[in-house]
Amino acid sequence: MSEEYVLQLQHIRKEYPGVVALKDVSLELKKGEILALIGENGAGKSTLIKTCSGAVIPTSGKIVINGNEHTSMTPQLAAENGIAIIYQEFNNVAELSAAENLFLGRPIKKGFIIDKAAMEREAEKAFEHLHIKINPKSLMKNLTVGYQQMVEIAKAIQQDAQILIMDEPSAPLTSTEVENMFEVVKHLQKEGISIIYISHRLEEIYRLSDRIVVLRDGEYVKTLITKESHVEELIHLMVGRELTETYPARKKDCIDKGKVVLELQDVCGNGDENISFQIHKGEILGLGGLVGAGRTELAHLIFGAAKKKSGRIILNGKEINPGNPREAIDLGIALVPEDRKRHGAMLGVSIKNNINMAVYERNSTMSVIDTRKEKAVAKKYKEELAIKAPNLEQPVKNLSGGNQQKVILARWLAANSELVIFDEPTRGIDVGAKYQIYKLMNHLVEKEGKTILLISSEMEELMGMSDRIVVLSEGHVTGELEKYDFNQDTIMAFASAAVREGEPV
Ligand SMILES: Nc1ncnc2c1ncn2[C@@H]1O[C@H](COP(=O)(O)OP(=O)(O)OP(=O)(O)O)[C@@H](O)[C@H]1O
Ligand SMILES: [Mg+2]
Repeated sequence: MSEEYVLQLQHIRKEYPGVVALKDVSLELKKGEILALIGENGAGKSTLIKTCSGAVIPTSGKIVINGNEHTSMTPQLAAENGIAIIYQEFNNVAELSAAENLFLGRPIKKGFIIDKAAMEREAEKAFEHLHIKINPKSLMKNLTVGYQQMVEIAKAIQQDAQILIMDEPSAPLTSTEVENMFEVVKHLQKEGISIIYISHRLEEIYRLSDRIVVLRDGEYVKTLITKESHVEELIHLMVGRELTETYPARKKDCIDKGKVVLELQDVCGNGDENISFQIHKGEILGLGGLVGAGRTELAHLIFGAAKKKSGRIILNGKEINPGNPREAIDLGIALVPEDRKRHGAMLGVSIKNNINMAVYERNSTMSVIDTRKEKAVAKKYKEELAIKAPNLEQPVKNLSGGNQQKVILARWLAANSELVIFDEPTRGIDVGAKYQIYKLMNHLVEKEGKTILLISSEMEELMGMSDRIVVLSEGHVTGELEKYDFNQDTIMAFASAAVREGEPV
């Protein structure tokens, strides 16, 4: 029986102080299959796959590779056994070329000298083999995230990986990059490579996988054959309850059309050109566009994180010029950043302090911190966003990826700002928690009179949550739609509209 499986994880348990991350989890990977691993944030997916590389040592259980039993792995043993993991943070060196990264740690040498030309030739072959177009000489830092990931995959294959494990590979990619990655993954499957694929996007699971393993709360729930399962069943198995509506409805009358909270007049800077639009009190304005259209840059201009060249930003009728985020926060603007790893969590610091960070910034003149209030605020958001952790004193680095995101989200909600800019708020967040975030957004505009600017690359989310959508392309506004006009094709057409320099749009 066991020859059929290239990898078996048997009764894996992993304990951390105060947390049992995995309880008796088993799964089997067949040769040449794509096995999806799904579960809510904190379910134990990353921990489980890290036992295969030695990044996590299980408390008990076995890892069986091609019939050979191991109680724990080391990175070297994993590599010798043909296991490669593509983590979310790549291990590449930005200043080196694609070829040099491909041979990192094991360069091709001619005598004592590194043979750059040979490495470039081999890299070319490796990329061609995967049908990807990367110049081996390109510096890693000049490649898009999608191509950097391709170099990681090529590296795994170059090292003869037979089992490829991918932890949320689509999360940082644009939709075109996701398609390219799918092609490569399917190609590898045809060559007999076995793949474990983790994602929160269920449509990807259906397009790609043969079987699905569901984890919940560190426990194995079920293995399904993808073709025989349906999405409601998956969600139910993951969250343990029904989720009937994806986008909670909002009362119509919470928008005050008579009150413009934010107005941009011909704002230029940071790659954006002549951006103008208004957002009303109580409104959720969606900002659509392809990755690179200039949406995050615009958010940075409004938030004082980048300098505008010209134009006017008007908040509640008064022109503002925040020189830095601190000033923007004082003016009542919050930005939940897209790149939460880089602009976000202080990993060594507790959940409680991370959540209160923006509040401290604002109240920095006061020397006394109200510890009761601090705790109450953190507790409130831990519950509302279902942040999975044994207590509020846990350092954020101990949380799962998705739960770290929730902490940053909570920080900006706790800041109690009048205008909240959400940049890709649900990336890497599980279905159940997404719904909580949408409900929170609704609460902000409906009950607390706040105003929201929502940047999202997920078309359904953008259409599901916005009252109005402004579309950007190449740093220009190319379209604006009211809710009754929302249509995926129209938005895509605006988003890919070519903007020629100097032409009015
Ligand atoms: N070093 C650690 N110390 C304490 N607890 C940890 C540590 N690493 C992980 N955990 C806990 O183990 C559990 C599982 O985390 P894991 O990262 O495996 O979840 P995940 O399913 O990958 O979630 P996500 O979808 O958010 O990435 C979480 O409750 C997390 O807080
Ligand atoms: Mg994870």
